[in-house]
This record gives sequence, structure tokens and C-alpha cells, in this order.
Amino acid sequence: MDSNKKIVAEKAVDEIKDGMTVGLGSGSTVYWMLQALGERVKDGLEIVGIPTSQKTEKLAKELGIPLADFSSVDGIDLAIDGADEVDPHLNLLKGGGGSLVREKIVDILAKRLIIIVDETKVVDYLGTFSLPVEVVPFGWETTSKRIAEYGCLPRRREQNGEAFISDNGNYILDCDFESIEKPAELHENLKKLVGVVETGLFINMADVVMVGHAGMVDVLT
Ligand code: 5RP
Repeated sequence: MDSNKKIVAEKAVDEIKDGMTVGLGSGSTVYWMLQALGERVKDGLEIVGIPTSQKTEKLAKELGIPLADFSSVDGIDLAIDGADEVDPHLNLLKGGGGSLVREKIVDILAKRLIIIVDETKVVDYLGTFSLPVEVVPFGWETTSKRIAEYGCLPRRREQNGEAFISDNGNYILDCDFESIEKPAELHENLKKLVGVVETGLFINMADVVMVGHAGMVDVLT
């Protein structure tokens, strides 16, 4: 339900303080976070945002949120991002919106990473949601076969009948696993394959997961 996304997004914005450099995630939950942040900025909050996707950059600009070039900042105080699945160890599966590479680059640099989700994203094991893996277009069919050897069925993501192209000019393979019991090991193995740019497994990165449900927010640490 969108109201749970909105509630959790607004709660997370309370963590943003004057003077912070803030990583701005991507997705429909982050949409609500940007709306609330835009209001706070109008009221005088002074922050600088680092967007994790072209979509987030466009919306943040429309809302008057000041942005900085990623290469111009020394560090990120706080990042707020969404997720497609969260397991009990706060490992994440991300990339449903296709922004996993930039999200990982920004989120990993943040001193604190807050993940905002609704209750439908909390799972016992990752992998019900297809795992997005970003790959270089050249030779993607071969890369896909190597990925499949880890027990999944990869599908190249399509949009309007054509290959989906990430913000980095790459393809996304959505990989159907039955369940991912060892996400850290799978991530390491997939990363070793030539042609794989990044996986949507975010291991040991989240400091806090805020979960919106029934109009309330649970905080998992
Ligand atoms: C995009 C992502 C998003 O954070 C993830 O898909 C969650 O999106 P939403 O809040 O729309 O459910 O990883 O690459």
C-alpha cells in the first residue's frame, strides 16, 4: 500500500539534519522521501543531495533539492534508499528499478544507510523477487549462461519491446532463483564472472531498515 511507503519515507526524512550530504536512493518509496525532503528544504533545511539515478536527479531538481556532483564530495553522511527484499540479517535485494550500480556506489560510501520499505518487502530468504544483475551488453548471452550455472534462469530485462538500458549503458538480467540461501557467497561468485558489472545483492550494508505497516513504522537494526 502506498500509504505505508509514504509514512516510512517521511519518518526517514526526520534523520536528515542541516549540513548533511545525503545519498538519494531510487524507486517509488524514495519518491515519497523526496517529496518530504523537498518540503523541508523549502522550510530552510540546508543539505546537498547525491542522486542514485537519472530519475531521482530529475525529480530532486523539480522539487528544489540542491544536488552535488558525486565526484565533488568527500563523503556521504547518510543515504536513504528503498529495497525489493530485506532478509532477517538486513541483507538486501535491490535493482527492481534498474539503478543498482549507482545505488551501490553511493550507499556503500554513506556513513549510515537507512533502507525504507513497506512490510511486503520483509522476507525470510532473499530470492522470491528476481535478482537483477547488471551486465555489459557485449557477449551478454555468454555471461547469462555462466550466471545460469549458479542455479537460476536469467532473463534480459525488456522495456517497450526493446532491451532495457541502465543509466550506465548496460543490460539488466533478472535471474529467477528458487531461494537465495547464501547471498554473500552468491554475490562473490557472480562478481567473479567476466561481463558482470554488479549484482543487486547488498550484503551487510544497511544500518537501519524502516518498515511501514498498518500506518506505523518498525525500525530494524
Ligand atoms: C531500484 C531499487 C529500488 O530501491 C527498489 O526497486 C525498491 O523500489 P520501490 O520503493 O519502488 O519498491 O533498488 O534499483
